[in-house]
Amino acid sequence: MANRNGVLVLAKDIVKKFPGVVALKNVTFDIRKGEIHGLLGQNGAGKSTLVKVIYGIHKPDSGKIYVKGKEVRFNGPSDARRHGIVLVNQEITVVPNLTVMENVFLLGKMWKEKVFRKIDYEELREKTYKIISALGIDIEPSTKVKDLRAAEKMIVQISAALTMDAEIILLDEPTSPLPPEEVEKLFSVMRQLRDKGLGIVFITHRVKEALEICDRITVLRNGVKLGTLEGDDMNENKLVQLMLGVNPNEFYKVRSEATIRRPLLTEKPLLEIKNLSTTPLSSTDIPLKNINLRVYPTEIHAVVGLVGAGKSELGKTLIGLQPVTSGEIIIKGKKVNIKSPVDALKYGIYYLPEDRKTEGLIPNLHVIGNKTISSLKYFTKLLLINSKKEYDVAMQLAKKLNIVMPSPYEKVIKLSGGNQQKVLIARGLLAKPEILILDEPTVGIDIGAKVEIRKAIYELAHKEKITILLLTSDPDEALGLADTISVMRNGEIVANFINENLSREEVIKAMTG
Ligand SMILES: Nc1ncnc2c1ncn2[C@@H]1O[C@H](COP(=O)(O)OP(=O)(O)OP(=O)(O)O)[C@@H](O)[C@H]1O
Ligand SMILES: [Mg+2]
Repeated sequence: MANRNGVLVLAKDIVKKFPGVVALKNVTFDIRKGEIHGLLGQNGAGKSTLVKVIYGIHKPDSGKIYVKGKEVRFNGPSDARRHGIVLVNQEITVVPNLTVMENVFLLGKMWKEKVFRKIDYEELREKTYKIISALGIDIEPSTKVKDLRAAEKMIVQISAALTMDAEIILLDEPTSPLPPEEVEKLFSVMRQLRDKGLGIVFITHRVKEALEICDRITVLRNGVKLGTLEGDDMNENKLVQLMLGVNPNEFYKVRSEATIRRPLLTEKPLLEIKNLSTTPLSSTDIPLKNINLRVYPTEIHAVVGLVGAGKSELGKTLIGLQPVTSGEIIIKGKKVNIKSPVDALKYGIYYLPEDRKTEGLIPNLHVIGNKTISSLKYFTKLLLINSKKEYDVAMQLAKKLNIVMPSPYEKVIKLSGGNQQKVLIARGLLAKPEILILDEPTVGIDIGAKVEIRKAIYELAHKEKITILLLTSDPDEALGLADTISVMRNGEIVANFINENLSREEVIKAMTG
C-alpha cells in the first residue's frame, strides 16, 4: 500500500556527480500511485541519471530515497526490484532469438523461482499470455522476439516487470525508436497500468507526447529540476520555456524580419516552375496540379503544407524521381529535363529526403545515386575516413554546421537526431549544390536541436549563398526562417506570401483551406 498521499517513491534532494559534471543538483521527485509522471528535458538534462538513481544503478552523492514512506538504500537494481521498482530502457535488451515467453521468464521473477527446476513451457506460455492479453495486446508467447515490432519488444520488458509484481515502472525514452502507430500501442499499455494503480515514469524529450499521456510533468535542465506541472499549467508554451529557458516565440524566430529578402522587380528566378503537373508512380503519392513557383537566388523559400499536401512529391519531381506530365522546370532561364538525381545535381539541385532513417542514412544511398556521386562516400559512417584530405573536408563541414560528436570516427547512428540530420546536410553540401531542397529537416528531433538546425539553414543561405527550398508541415518553421512562403494543399500551390507582417493564422488558414 502506498502511504497516505499515495506516494510510492520519493527521491529527496538528490545530488549525483560524475567526473566533471553534476548530473543532478538537489532534485526532489516523487511518483504517485496511479499516475503517469513525465520526465522532460533536453539531452544531458539528467533524466536517465535520475531514474538510474531510483533503480539503484547509481548511488546518489547525497539525498534520500523513500519507498512508501520508508527510507531505503539500494546497493543495486535487485534491491530496487525487491521494492517493486523496475526500469525499462533500450539498454536492457530482450534476447532476440528466444521466444516472448522465454524472455519474460528470463527477465522476470519466474526465473528466480524456477532456476533449479525444469521449465514447464505450457505453464510459462499460459502465464505469459495472461499478462500480455490483460494489457489488451495480442502477442503469441511462442513468437521469437526478433520477429516482433519495436513497441512489442518494449511490452515484453514491461510484461516481465509485471511478473515481478512491479508497482513502479520507469520507462526511459521508450518512444524514441517507435513509429507513431506503435507509440499509441505503448501508450495504451501505459494507461492500463496506470489505471491498475501502478506509478509510471515516462521519460521523453517530446513535449507533445508528454502532454498527451502524462498526469504530471517534471522538467529538468542541466541537472536542475525546474518544476512539476499539472492541470492547466501543463501546456506546450510553459514546458518549452522551462526546457529551453527561452520564450517559445523567440525560439521559433531564428531570424529577424529586417533580414527578409524581397526579390527585386527586375530579378530573374534561379528556379522557376511553370504549370507543372505530375502523375505519380505510386498510388500513395500525391499528383501535382499546375504548380507555379519562383525561387530566387539565396532565398529561403518555404513550401508549407499539411502531411500529404504533395511537398515531397514536388521535391522528388525536381530531382527526376517523379515523371512530369505537363509543364516546365526552368533553371537560370533555361528549360531543363531532369531525369534522375544525378541529372538534378548537374543543374545544382540536391534533395535531402524526409525519412532520414530509411532513405537518408547510410548505407541506403540509392535515392541520390551514391555510385555516381563519389563525394558522398565521405560520410559513409559518420566519416569513414581514409585520407587526410577527407578528414579536413569533413572536419571543416562539421565545424560549419556545429556537429557535436565524440570523435569524427563515431558511427552516425550513435549521434543525436539533430546531429544526424546535420551530417546529412553536410553530405548534401559536399555535392556543392546551388539549390538545396530540405524535406522536413526538423521532424522527430528534440526542440533544442530544431533551433540548431534552423540556425544552420539560415547560415547556409546567408553566408554560403545557397538557395534553400524548405518543404515543411510546420508553419512556425516557415515563419521563423523563410523569406517567401508558398502554401501547398492537395497537390496545388494555393497561396504565396512574402514573410513580412505575416500572421500564423493566415498561413494556417491557407494550409487547411
Ligand atoms: N555514467 C556516466 N559517467 C559520466 N557522466 C555521465 C554518466 N551518465 C551521465 N553522465 C552525464 O550526466 C549528465 C546527465 O546525463 P543523463 O544521461 O542523465 O541525461 P538525459 O537527460 O538522460 O539525456 P538524454 O536525453 O541524452 O538521454 C550528462 O552531462 C552526462 O554526460
Ligand atoms: Mg537519457
